[in-house]
Amino acid sequence: MCGILGYTGDRQASSILLAGLERLEYRGYDSAGIAILDNGNIKIAKNKGRLKVLEDRINAGEEVSGTCGIGHTRWATHGEPSDVNAHPLWSDDMAVVAVHNGIVENYREIRAMLAEHGYTFYSQTDTEAAVKLIDYHYKKEKTPLKAITQAIKEIDGSYCFVLLFRDFPGEVWGARKDLPLIAGQGKGESFLASDVSAILHDTRQVYYLDNMEIVQLKKGNVRFFDVEGYATHKEISEVTWDANAAEKGGFEHFMMKEIHEQARAVKDTFGAVYHSGKIDLTEKGLTDEAIRAVSQIYIIACGSAYHAGAVAQYVIEDLAKIPVRIEMASEFRYRDMPMDRNALAVIISQSGETADTLAAMRRAKENGIKTLAVVNVVGSTIAREADSVFYTMAGPEIAVATTKAYSAQLAACYAMAVKFAHVRGVIDDAECTRLIAEIQGLPEKIDEILDEKGSLEELAGRFVNARNAFYLGRNIDYAVAMEGSLKMKEISYLHSEAIAAGEMKHGPISLIERGMLVAGIMTQKGLYQKTASNMLEAKSRGGFLLVVSSRGCEYLKDDADFVFHVPETDEHFAASLAVIPLQLLGYYVAVARKLDVDKPRNLAKSVTVE
Ligand code: AGP
Repeated sequence: MCGILGYTGDRQASSILLAGLERLEYRGYDSAGIAILDNGNIKIAKNKGRLKVLEDRINAGEEVSGTCGIGHTRWATHGEPSDVNAHPLWSDDMAVVAVHNGIVENYREIRAMLAEHGYTFYSQTDTEAAVKLIDYHYKKEKTPLKAITQAIKEIDGSYCFVLLFRDFPGEVWGARKDLPLIAGQGKGESFLASDVSAILHDTRQVYYLDNMEIVQLKKGNVRFFDVEGYATHKEISEVTWDANAAEKGGFEHFMMKEIHEQARAVKDTFGAVYHSGKIDLTEKGLTDEAIRAVSQIYIIACGSAYHAGAVAQYVIEDLAKIPVRIEMASEFRYRDMPMDRNALAVIISQSGETADTLAAMRRAKENGIKTLAVVNVVGSTIAREADSVFYTMAGPEIAVATTKAYSAQLAACYAMAVKFAHVRGVIDDAECTRLIAEIQGLPEKIDEILDEKGSLEELAGRFVNARNAFYLGRNIDYAVAMEGSLKMKEISYLHSEAIAAGEMKHGPISLIERGMLVAGIMTQKGLYQKTASNMLEAKSRGGFLLVVSSRGCEYLKDDADFVFHVPETDEHFAASLAVIPLQLLGYYVAVARKLDVDKPRNLAKSVTVE
């Protein structure tokens, strides 16, 4: 997720762009840049690092004069944060310069086609391929509109572009597919932005572009075109949000915004390794040969990342029949554990900077174990030191309590599980295709669950003064219970504990008090009855039974105090759905308790100390 901006009018573009980018930095901040079209020249200033570095370099924009320009704050997905990979990116003769938000999924194929036409590439970004594809068509069609309409028909992925054409002074162009792009109308000036927070300071009169729509800005004049190049009409809207709310997409907290971004995070993460009908992990160092050579897998992580690994353990073992151990990084790093040199260590970390996880990875490497990092921050320490990296595509996660990054980690682990199972001959082509379709169906089902979040908000009020909670489950449901319990405790400060349901009678059941929340997760059909009986034991001692189960599960429907059904999916992937109501419950209890949901006490987004 990146911040993109365009401006044309009578004022100096650089200061307007820098101010707008500052309000977009929450969308991405590993590099920044602007381009200004002035007197038939395009001047570019860009660098790795925060926007402040750029502002200092160009003296707050005074050194880049001109009244028409574009800007970008980057969250890297393809190509590490660097001066070269920073946006804007340009065609070789600087005739076309652009900034981009999103993912060009077929950028390899585009680069190959362009190389056959003499194009070369200076960056590792998918964006450069798109910019040069637009240039390729521009050289033939001679107009921005035709070049853009041709190119976007050939680009796969979710994206929006904002562009300058050197030979079209005073104009800014844009196009979108799936990701938002807003046009703003001012007095004698106009704007483009990835979200309204960047331009609210200048105008509240906006247009929301539709999918595959193209926009042309001139001073104070905005025109729209469809993908065939025909002019389209659009009604103007008035933005009522304040800038702060706009940053959160209209949600009260970043955490709720990010809960709603999970479908996209899952789609983009799986989409990053799914090409032309196959899961391809070769860029992650997992060729078919390497996959066959893996004797066992150690999954090493902390916190929610560890919980994602707990899900992955069940899924990979069941699908690929490979022994999987999950290890808390803080324990693994101090344990003198005999390790199998043919093992694969999967290091899961959203930030890529967690001290214990980094140390544990180094310990695995010291023992000659191959390491694969599943990381959300491109260029982070763990990403750089691992033998290979599987980047999750969740975008920057602002809330301390992870949601979308956790879901993206699950998607990455599912891809590995299915790929390993298929390459090692445990599942056939048909089963592989079926499982892939199930994974691809998850984003829509996640959104379906979010449409029913109101019932959880209502339920949360009941636990405003609660002191304890249990989360029970078996197998994958136990791994989900771990994450649900952590969400509750870390943001609502309500003490909760995840328990393997079969363990209740070995001690924890003594803690049940009247009205105590006992959440049971039931998505694994073969275990419904067992977990149901544990839940009934809690009920008979006064527990308040909350059941999160797959649609069609009839157990406890007459005994539970509250049932939340999630859509059916292949049981291996049910964690991605069952976790959503538990995230929401923790969120709503914290809100009901009037706590700082995005920044819970005592916690940091990345635990870089031991
Ligand atoms: C998750 O909600 C917590 N904030 C925390 O447990 C986190 O998952 C853990 O610190 C690991 O962080 P990482 O994924 O950045 O390594």
